[in-house]
Amino acid sequence: MTRREAYLKLRWGVGGPATLGLRLGHLAAIAVGVGATAWATTPDLSSELTSTLNEMRAAVLAIFTVEYLARAWTAPEGAETAPPWTARVVWMTSGMAVVDLLALAPWLPLLAGGSFDAFGSSYDDLCAAFWIVKLAHHVPEQAIVVRVLANARVSVLSVLTIFAMIMVIAAVTMHLIEGTANPAAFGTLPKALWWAVVTLTTTGYGDEVPLTVAGRIVASAVMVCGISVLAILAGILVTGYAQEARREEFLRTWRLVASVPFFKALPPSAIAEITGILKASTYPAGAAVVRVGDPGDKMFFIAEGEVEVRLKPEPVRLKIGDFFGELALITQQPRGATVATVTSTTLLALDVADFLILAGRLPELTEAIEAAGKQRLEEDKDMTPV
Ligand code: CMP
Repeated sequence: MTRREAYLKLRWGVGGPATLGLRLGHLAAIAVGVGATAWATTPDLSSELTSTLNEMRAAVLAIFTVEYLARAWTAPEGAETAPPWTARVVWMTSGMAVVDLLALAPWLPLLAGGSFDAFGSSYDDLCAAFWIVKLAHHVPEQAIVVRVLANARVSVLSVLTIFAMIMVIAAVTMHLIEGTANPAAFGTLPKALWWAVVTLTTTGYGDEVPLTVAGRIVASAVMVCGISVLAILAGILVTGYAQEARREEFLRTWRLVASVPFFKALPPSAIAEITGILKASTYPAGAAVVRVGDPGDKMFFIAEGEVEVRLKPEPVRLKIGDFFGELALITQQPRGATVATVTSTTLLALDVADFLILAGRLPELTEAIEAAGKQRLEEDKDMTPV
């Protein structure tokens, strides 16, 4: 296997069934490793079971060691311009590489003391924690989550500051009101702070409750404040996530639009305008995208894949950069033929309303579509739909 093939497989998502096998294998290794470590912390295990668990963890450690070396070896493929060893060092300092390296920490007690628990069981638990972080390799959207938190940091910090202020004010007030009547729960400020955190986060264990009427009134206000602050925090994060998802979708559509030869000659401002109105969707092989006789409300540009216009005597194949479905929009007649995908195909759909807007803004584009449509109508005089 070449370094490039190995790299594609390790990047999870490229490489077909082999990649799926590798991905499932990796998940299984994490599950076995964490499960065996957790089990090994149970007291009074038989010596056979302990040694079986240790063997399982040693096998998982071996897998993670091979994985680390393979990732380091293939790192230059991900940074093709840098010299190989520079790319490897850059990879080794990345966040996930540090996690992968920390996952090899059980080697230390194994090498130093000959067994996993040579450094004590707390060390084991710590290692298992790093093995679970390796799950991040399987979360493609982690970068979005990090960006959402980074974008919303000012709002989140403001809400957390308000949260801290309410918490301290609530604790001090309750200490003053309930300190003498209920010293076990509110006799000191730290005790009152613990109550404030539990109440504000709506955890409400009920182990410390106010006894006085004034204390209960303050507690009610604190509970309402807690729910409100958490709702605001959730709202900020959900809005940020929706914005990021829209931005990702816009960028994906932009890349697809820019790769369609039909749009390549357009200036960036026109590509941005078209990107805003086209909707990308991926169809599996053999899916009928439009059917003969159906009313036509949109046309499609092929960004990836291939489709077949089902006409007799010969079907017509359309490839990347071609478009279809324009005739129903131009002639305002039902679809003249069924168009189905030949391979998995990504299409950019343009609604009839947006087609008309586009005709006003970029007349040369719609004129080219209309000219191709008229030529197709001429060709179709000798053909019939299947
Ligand atoms: P519409 O009639 O809306 O739906 C079927 C589509 O097939 C049609 O628009 C054209 O885009 C496409 N089509 C019809 N005839 C041909 C042809 N001869 N060559 C390529 N595409 C065609």
